[in-house]
Amino acid sequence: MRVVYMDYAASTPVRPEVAEAMNQAMLETWGNPSSPHRFGREARKLVDDARRKVADLVGAAPREVVFTSGGTEADNLAIAGTLLARRDRGRHLVTSAVEHHAVLGTCEYLARAGLAEVTILPVDAYGRVDPDTLAAAVRPDTVLVSVMLANNEVGTIQPIAELARVCREREVPFHTDAVQAVGTIPVNVRELGVDLLSLAAHKFYGPQGAGALVVRRGHRLEPLLHGGSHERQRRAGTEGVPAIVGLGKAAELAAVELEAYGAHARAMRDRLLDGVFGRIADVRLNGHPTSRLPNHAHLSFRGVDGEALLLKLDLLGIACSAGSACAAGAPEPSHVLRALGVEPEWAGGSVRLTVGRPTTAEDVDYVVDCLADTVARLRGGLPAAAGRVRP
Ligand SMILES: Cc1ncc(COP(=O)(O)O)c(C=O)c1O
Repeated sequence: MRVVYMDYAASTPVRPEVAEAMNQAMLETWGNPSSPHRFGREARKLVDDARRKVADLVGAAPREVVFTSGGTEADNLAIAGTLLARRDRGRHLVTSAVEHHAVLGTCEYLARAGLAEVTILPVDAYGRVDPDTLAAAVRPDTVLVSVMLANNEVGTIQPIAELARVCREREVPFHTDAVQAVGTIPVNVRELGVDLLSLAAHKFYGPQGAGALVVRRGHRLEPLLHGGSHERQRRAGTEGVPAIVGLGKAAELAAVELEAYGAHARAMRDRLLDGVFGRIADVRLNGHPTSRLPNHAHLSFRGVDGEALLLKLDLLGIACSAGSACAAGAPEPSHVLRALGVEPEWAGGSVRLTVGRPTTAEDVDYVVDCLADTVARLRGGLPAAAGRVRP
């Protein structure tokens, strides 16, 4: 049976060059980067190299990069760390209704603990936050605004530079969760004007368990992990050198190949959409029509049971996601689709297909054939003729 992975937004395969660099670090450079002897110095050099590569990928200075265990930790550190550092200013947080649970869950936790008051901004039908709505929500006691760069479910890209400007004019720090964007589209912290940015290696062909929070120089942040003075006192604990090396290598490769990767992803995604819209009726693409990630296709098939569709596709060797990998298995429409106002008859029949570096035109054609067939069967109609030519 053919097996096609179309869930690159959930995780990507580690590139061989990345695995090789990590393996070498594990076998040869296992010293503690904090040790002053040669073993430590060699490990420190690897960490410093990786820091520079990550900084280069997002237009930051190396000292602004704080290594974390991934996107979730970076989001937690950005939000809770800023709130704690700015408690003299207030305890009001602003975020959006379509954030990843790593952001929403952190805000909810802080509110539950009585440490924060949270305003959740609505989005339009494409999932975008309106800068005027943000401006109206910011208060004198607002200590941080957090809006994601690109949505993990529907792929919509937010007007981050505009939103960050609104905050800068009011001297309120701005965080963006760029976990889905970094390594897929050009991201530059200076051009965006953000104070904090989260990224994760496993979204761009690096290892799971490695990420970073980019912290603008001068931004005050309380550490969440206490102990040693690692990461300029912003995250205690011996650095995970192999994982950091993998993140650095993935960042280096992504920077070089960003344009080609974007073009390949766009071509595969568009082939998928052409096929789906040419062969299947009553289907919708969720998210913004143009301001979107190049590799994302979040589709709703009216009147189809999304869970059943996912299972049938799995039996056909196709791995994709029901809206958000983190919410998979939940029968309710995701918080993102609810925030977009997608009607239940559509929301219930949603799948997220995301293409990646290894995706081929044959993979896409196979997925289109299977989708056309399976959707027709689930709707109780005749299956589509196998191998029909794309319109
Ligand atoms: C937008 C977004 N933020 C945060 C995360 C969490 O990152 P991690 O899995 O590295 O903790 C993800 C992962 O899916 C994501 O897509």
